[in-house]
Amino acid sequence: RNMADPRAERTFLAVKPDGVQRGLVGEIISRFEKRGYKLGSRQIRLVVEPVKILIFFLQPSKDLLHNHYAELSSKPFFPGLIEYMSSGPVFAMVWEGTDVVSVGRKMLGATNPRESPIGTIRGDFAIDVGRNICHGSDSVGTAEREIALWFTPDEVVSYGLAQKKWIY
Ligand code: TYD
Ligand code: MG
Repeated sequence: RNMADPRAERTFLAVKPDGVQRGLVGEIISRFEKRGYKLGSRQIRLVVEPVKILIFFLQPSKDLLHNHYAELSSKPFFPGLIEYMSSGPVFAMVWEGTDVVSVGRKMLGATNPRESPIGTIRGDFAIDVGRNICHGSDSVGTAEREIALWFTPDEVVSYGLAQKKWIY
């Protein structure tokens, strides 16, 4: 985190396998872009042979997911969560801008989509807590940990927002 520029706060967002399969990647990116946040990652880990199209998502290993959700490992839903999250590609992203961690959580809504207000991503597009289509870091510290887990430092890019005062 760049302490000299509080606008450089970063969060880790991921469209989960059900969100990818339902074609909601663009919708979720669009909401964050329209809010004024900047995409700050280039995740190019999967090359689809033989066409060699570079696509921006990856299928996470169970090791990665155990690490990502370590604090939930004793919960009864943990095995199902790992199965679900490793069942297909997820679209992993870093977003940056003022208060992007807490505002991002508000944009996602509640963990249980049925308790999530209309207008939030989960409130608009999901029904089941076990298929809530997207992930967002819950604190600045968690975001740093998750970004370091999912990305290498050279995959995290910054647009030099300090020169563009009107852009968050
Ligand atoms: P958690 O970190 O508590 O929620 P959030 O994603 O909002 O930060 O839980 C991680 C994921 O675990 C959650 O997105 C969906 C799943 N989960 C369940 O399947 N059942 C549950 O009862 C809870 C609390 C979470
Ligand atoms: Mg969480």
